[in-house]
Amino acid sequence: MSFRSGSIGLLRAASSRICTVQCGHTQVFGPTARLYTTRSSLSVPSSRASAGRSGSMTAISLERRHYASKRDNYPPKVSLKNNVVDVEHRGRSLKLSAAYLLDHCRCSKCSHAKTKQRLKTLSEVDPNVFISELTPSSDGITVQWHGQDGHTALFPWRFWARLVEAQSPQISSKILWDNKIASKPPSIDYERLMPSSAGEEEAEKAVLEWISKVDQYGFCFVNGVPATPEATEELINRIGTIRQTHYGGFWDFTADMSLGDLAYSSQQLPAHTDSTYFTDPSGLQIFHLLSHPPPGEGGHTLLVDGFKAALQLEHDQPGMYQTLSTVPVPHHASGNQGLMYRTCRPVLTVTHEEGDESLEMVRWNNEDRGVLVDRDGWDEESTVEVWYEAAREFERILRSRENEYWVKLQPGTVCVIDNWRVLHGRSSFTGSRRMCGAYVGRDDWRSRLWTLQRRFSNTQKDDLWDFGW
Ligand SMILES: [Fe+2]
Ligand SMILES: [Zn+2]
Repeated sequence: MSFRSGSIGLLRAASSRICTVQCGHTQVFGPTARLYTTRSSLSVPSSRASAGRSGSMTAISLERRHYASKRDNYPPKVSLKNNVVDVEHRGRSLKLSAAYLLDHCRCSKCSHAKTKQRLKTLSEVDPNVFISELTPSSDGITVQWHGQDGHTALFPWRFWARLVEAQSPQISSKILWDNKIASKPPSIDYERLMPSSAGEEEAEKAVLEWISKVDQYGFCFVNGVPATPEATEELINRIGTIRQTHYGGFWDFTADMSLGDLAYSSQQLPAHTDSTYFTDPSGLQIFHLLSHPPPGEGGHTLLVDGFKAALQLEHDQPGMYQTLSTVPVPHHASGNQGLMYRTCRPVLTVTHEEGDESLEMVRWNNEDRGVLVDRDGWDEESTVEVWYEAAREFERILRSRENEYWVKLQPGTVCVIDNWRVLHGRSSFTGSRRMCGAYVGRDDWRSRLWTLQRRFSNTQKDDLWDFGW
């Protein structure tokens, strides 16, 4: 199993559909020294190309320095033959059709500069369109299509390079862990995250550090939080909009079974992920123990890295990993009058990109598991029995002592968990235990992560070519 990010499946599909139209027109450009000469020695053939230029000379110089510092060949080598555009870069290559390029044109007719949205339908992109000319410049390559009202547009060098680089497996930023993480769990101080104490800019940088840790480890503690619901809610809002569910938005409760879920009891809860009965399970689970005064005891928090456990299963029992990633399992929430949530999805959500697999989500909640059925006949080798065998092994890994990280949280420490990866649980407790917290949707916290990464990176902030990957 490999952990991957980004989306390249579409590019793959497009690039493998090679245009077979014969036009016998061949042009070859780059990499050549002249692209590092002054702009005056280069020709930019149309006003459209100039309108599509990436920006100032400074920006171009920065881009060159970036690549020059890596000692890579830049720009990519781009050539046209039989209406197919060949791109070579860093030992890799790909072939693009004329229609693919027209579909990806970001000129003002094809793409809205402010909203970054496409402005033409697929039916407006003739699959048999011809490219009449490619013209290199310091900024990139200007493509001119036959017909299409003389459509001409500049595709900057970084577009070609990035397309080729997108073929390479992405390096995962995930750090898998076991109970040894107890010696140094990922954490950050509350004061650094709040603009009122740290200032706007520094607080935003700290939020990036915070959710980057959640991205890497699947959880992160925040220390020094005032033990009040107000401060906790304000903190959660630093990540994003609180997600409304049938439990409400921000919750603040004691164990009174006011809602029909064992979370509202005082009994022990084995490691699980939340809302497995949603098609889109809650992205972040954030909670804060506000108080648990003596003589109350127990209520230790349990965290388990579901990705690490899945990796272990795949390594030791690949067939079982396959079973858990393909056999649909029903989950439901039926404890509340008038509500019935249910899904039927595999325990492991595996996405397929370029034939390579990457684990996206672990759904594991034995309490909320529904009725297993086998529609293909039922015997001792039925899918149900095969699933049980795999699930028992996965549970054994999840419950192994080395994978269980137990911690006694105190008021003042907020726990943020990537609910698509890390399982949580708790030991039973006595006394009055007041908790508060909320969910944040997966797409919302990922959006916050990416926009902060963008804000504090060196990329051009409003570059149309940098969106949509
Ligand atoms: Fe839970
Ligand atoms: Zn266009």
